[in-house]
Amino acid sequence: MSNQNNITSVLRETRVFHPSADFSHKAHVGSFAEYKRLWESAREDIEGFWAEQAKSLAWFKTWHTTLEWKAPHAKWFDGGLINASYNCLDRHLNNGLNNKAALIWEGEPGDTRTLTYQMLHREVCKFANALKLLGINKGDRITIYMPLVPELVIAMLACARIGAVHSVVFGGFSAEAVADRNNDAKSRLVITADGGWRRGKTVPLKANVDQAVEKSPTIEKVVVLKRTGQAIDMHPGRDLWWHELISGVGSECPAEALDSEHPLFILYTSGSTGKPKGIYHTTGGYLLGAAYTHKLVFDIRPDDVYWCTADAGWITGHTYLVYGPLANATTIVMYEGAPNHPAEDRFWEIIAKYGVTVFYTAPTAIRAFMKWGDQFPKRHDLTSLRLLGSVGEPINPEAWMWYQEVIGGGRCPIVDTWWQTETGSIMIAPLPGAVPTKPGSATFPLPGIVAEIVDKEGKEVGANEGGFLVIKKPWPSMLRTLYGDDERYQKTYWENTPGSYFTADGARRDEEGYIWIMGRVDDVLNVSGHRLSTMEVESALAQHHYVAEAAVVGKPDEIKGEGIACFVTLKSGIAATDSLKAELRDFVSKSIGALARPDEIRFTEGLPKTRSGKIMRRLLRDIASGRQTSGDTTTLEDYSVLANLRSDEE
Ligand code: PRX
Repeated sequence: MSNQNNITSVLRETRVFHPSADFSHKAHVGSFAEYKRLWESAREDIEGFWAEQAKSLAWFKTWHTTLEWKAPHAKWFDGGLINASYNCLDRHLNNGLNNKAALIWEGEPGDTRTLTYQMLHREVCKFANALKLLGINKGDRITIYMPLVPELVIAMLACARIGAVHSVVFGGFSAEAVADRNNDAKSRLVITADGGWRRGKTVPLKANVDQAVEKSPTIEKVVVLKRTGQAIDMHPGRDLWWHELISGVGSECPAEALDSEHPLFILYTSGSTGKPKGIYHTTGGYLLGAAYTHKLVFDIRPDDVYWCTADAGWITGHTYLVYGPLANATTIVMYEGAPNHPAEDRFWEIIAKYGVTVFYTAPTAIRAFMKWGDQFPKRHDLTSLRLLGSVGEPINPEAWMWYQEVIGGGRCPIVDTWWQTETGSIMIAPLPGAVPTKPGSATFPLPGIVAEIVDKEGKEVGANEGGFLVIKKPWPSMLRTLYGDDERYQKTYWENTPGSYFTADGARRDEEGYIWIMGRVDDVLNVSGHRLSTMEVESALAQHHYVAEAAVVGKPDEIKGEGIACFVTLKSGIAATDSLKAELRDFVSKSIGALARPDEIRFTEGLPKTRSGKIMRRLLRDIASGRQTSGDTTTLEDYSVLANLRSDEE
């Protein structure tokens, strides 16, 4: 929890931006007073508030108990029957939105497809019937490992329709990572594609699945979408083409009426150990969180063209590409590829082409756009935009200002949204018509969310004092447990600050109550807005036969927010060469995925440790970031180790 030391040293930002009168006038929540009133009334009666909100969803049967809270286990809307796929599709058809565009999709090579709500419904029903033909039952887990194509959304909604539980694995993860997740979830099926497009090249998804399935005994079948047309091996009896599977199946598939607490998905994310955690979300509460926050934070209107750039392999894609927007009958834009293919203006071209009104992306992308230069956005008409969003990591004020001026033309409010895979939906963010924003602050908790900043004893800290961000009351879209490891769930989230949910983020509130997120206080890195545990990288390195020991820390990175620095001790007799550095970087990338590729590897004779053998990461962090080593080093086991590391640098 050493990052807490840095919390109070952050620069104070004084600029304040108010929404325009016109924006506020049209917004769902149009003034700060109105926001405050909503927040206060929700806090007075949390259950009543959420019960009222839940009426906006379509239920097959109303719940009898809004919240059953046996800390730290929640059940929301118990007794209620609901289906997420029905809420995202059927109910809009019943409301006459059949021909509204649900999904405007663009592939990286430039191919495009638009699916109306009716078309999407038909495809989802067909694929759901195909899943049934494969013998998939309610509650079965299914791994989805696909490029960002419409079939990924179709597969997710088809699972939801029949009550199967999806576990989407980001297409950038390695075969190893897919196997680990298959095995942890005991998946019966993998849905994949031959490949996907990334920067003009193809990603070998099916080849990775072949490797993964060799180590995944629970997988019975693999469904393969033809996307790139690249050569792949099809294993007879195990592998099935998507297009063959759905040919001839019926296009009607009634949505199952599921218990509100029926699992909707498992999504793996990094924790502070080497083993990823299966974040377990259920149906009614999650869907409510997704729909409610999407509507309020993005101030969604019926004619919006909404683009969230996240891949569906991350929670942002689950909640704000798929479930939130579709539950609200929004038209969504989805793009398969890289922002700089074929040129650095691809995103701006897409915004102009489809008239995107709401755009949601990550600070790491914004910093890359800044670096590429203003000439790229300036080439395109971005005046359709009315609201911008940011997610995944703290946004530095400089990037915030650039986003506001160059992309938003100075007229679009920015919503900096703080949340986590575990929270399921946005917790802290400005309501854009109501809350004046300050660059770099996620501002205030949403109505229904009670957030506090506390010290180690759980006592609330004063203005401008750093502390741990915690959530005081249960909320509908909270994780229910960690799949297969309830003990770890209790320990990770509920024991650090008893009585409240521990976010593992540090934060402070300024004198006006604005919340400033300062980043993780555990051993989790935030690389390009994606979570990565230092332990995961360490255990990958330790598997290399030349490595004796490794320690991994974050270091500041201009674009990615945080980069990965590795300190590696080699086995005796192994030469520390540059080619071995390159080999180790490839090794990590292959074993976890490209996002875990180390930025820097330093060979060292030994690692600085305390007398009890704990690696002194604070020192390593200081060295990796080029800072003077500060703080107490008297417990160091071997001073010479530290001296060697430092002189190596000079
Ligand atoms: O440290 C916080 C950071 O991302 C972590 C959650 O990561 P993940 O579960 O992958 O979800 C990312 C997308 C919701 C948090 O613990 N984080 C997320 N959003 C912000 C943020 N840090 C600062 N400001 C944000 N807006």
